[in-house]
Amino acid sequence: MEIALASQQSQNPLRVGMRSARNVAPCVMVIFGATGDLTHRKLLPALYNLALEHPLPPQFTVVGVARRPFSNEEFRQQALDSINQFSRRRPVNERVWDTFSKGLYYHQSQFDDKSGYEGLAKLLEQLDQERGTGGNHIFYLATPPSFYGTIGDLLNSAGLASQDGNGGQGWSRIIVEKPFGHDLESAMALNKELNKAFKEDQIYRIDHYLGKETVQNIMVLRFGNGIFEPIWDRRYVDNVQITVAENIGVDSRGDYYEEAGAMRDMVQNHMMQLLTLVAMEPPTNFGANAVRDEKVKVLRAIPPFAEAEIAADTVRGQYGPGMVGGEVVRGYRQEPGVNPNSRTETFVALKLAIENWRWAGVPFYLRTGKRLTKRITEVAIQFKRPPYLLFQGTGTDQMQPNVLSLRIQPNEGISLLFEAKVPGQEMQLRSVNMDFLYGSSFGVEPPEAYERLLLDCMLGDSTLFTRIDETEYSWQLIDAIEHAWSRSLAAALPQYEPGTWGPKEADALIERDGRTWRRL
Ligand code: BG6
Repeated sequence: MEIALASQQSQNPLRVGMRSARNVAPCVMVIFGATGDLTHRKLLPALYNLALEHPLPPQFTVVGVARRPFSNEEFRQQALDSINQFSRRRPVNERVWDTFSKGLYYHQSQFDDKSGYEGLAKLLEQLDQERGTGGNHIFYLATPPSFYGTIGDLLNSAGLASQDGNGGQGWSRIIVEKPFGHDLESAMALNKELNKAFKEDQIYRIDHYLGKETVQNIMVLRFGNGIFEPIWDRRYVDNVQITVAENIGVDSRGDYYEEAGAMRDMVQNHMMQLLTLVAMEPPTNFGANAVRDEKVKVLRAIPPFAEAEIAADTVRGQYGPGMVGGEVVRGYRQEPGVNPNSRTETFVALKLAIENWRWAGVPFYLRTGKRLTKRITEVAIQFKRPPYLLFQGTGTDQMQPNVLSLRIQPNEGISLLFEAKVPGQEMQLRSVNMDFLYGSSFGVEPPEAYERLLLDCMLGDSTLFTRIDETEYSWQLIDAIEHAWSRSLAAALPQYEPGTWGPKEADALIERDGRTWRRL
């Protein structure tokens, strides 16, 4: 996408960017937390798929760093197991695996042991020479955020953090996972620590929602077509609904989730990303800063909640025990690692305003939760009704508003709901759908979010990564709500039945405005 920046003279920079060859320079990806779940389920399978489908250079190298005493061979075996279990493309292609696995190395170290980093620097120097990776290093921190500062510092003291890599050659980048802070203050502190070693343009804050094909398609739908943008504003749009529903519970992540809750786990990051992509102004080009500047403007246009509004415009809930699909499921408070009196929310519904010329008066309704009816992520743009109901009195006054729905997952696609005449002698109307389905239109499986994001980082393209000011503005909004919620401990935290759409208070939030949630 950065390539598009250079081709601004072109008639259509977006298209040029999309078509451009994306050749990766030989590099080493160092994964801290190499024996953990994220590496096992996501990172190693994603890297293998990139080797399979994208011309990753044969020199591409991975160094896994963790505390466990593994040999290179054991790490390679672990990688093979990960790929066999979680790769999008299976079975393993022997030829690709052969080349890929030769580039997998393991380095044992505590994350806070200085000598471990000296050893890592030596190993990287050796690999750069033997494998021709040119001093280009990516450090992926698949560790708890409490290690970010220490790892950054020690990489720096080992001479591994400088922008131009070793001896003035190559580059050095760092990828950090969420949660990026717990609130605004901790996010700023975390950033300050990272900044001691890495500059902002070396830091890649990953939000895997931005790597989803359908999320990227929001930009293509809006800015690659002429017909949507003219109606994409307060004159035509009645409201926008963003739903990120999951049918699973918190499973084994109780400890983490107790500290996060749905607001910090989903709203602060993934849902805010969806919101900003839907609401932003067209960027002047498709470069990382131009796109992120526009996203930040949206966040700045959301007025912080005043305490009085929080009771009216936010709803939280927690799933209780119940039955789903004939099976008994635990309530949140009975999940392992969860306090039996927990007041952590597993459901959030919000009504937001974006106070700018485009969106003044258009409510944005957001809802997310665990143990809901189904897994579905959707952005729905609901349009205003026709100005005059011509068909009133013909039994057709129940006309549905037009809805453009962007289905992020599953059954990825885009639908436009509109009214049509039912064939026959009478004037009867019914809502019908015009559908685009990824699966049938392209006939190929979209890559996993991590594949796209890892590749972009190798290419030095940070468009799909969260810039620090995005994180901070988003925390500012979330903090106001969290503070109000925590001040009124007695405030309602309704329990909801698993397998439903959350507490009835969420319905009341939108019905008060004479609207209803989409039935999904
Ligand atoms: C993660 C959250 O970031 O996103 C999880 O921590 C959530 O709680 C997951 O389940 C959802 O991701 P996806 O890609 O399955 O929608």
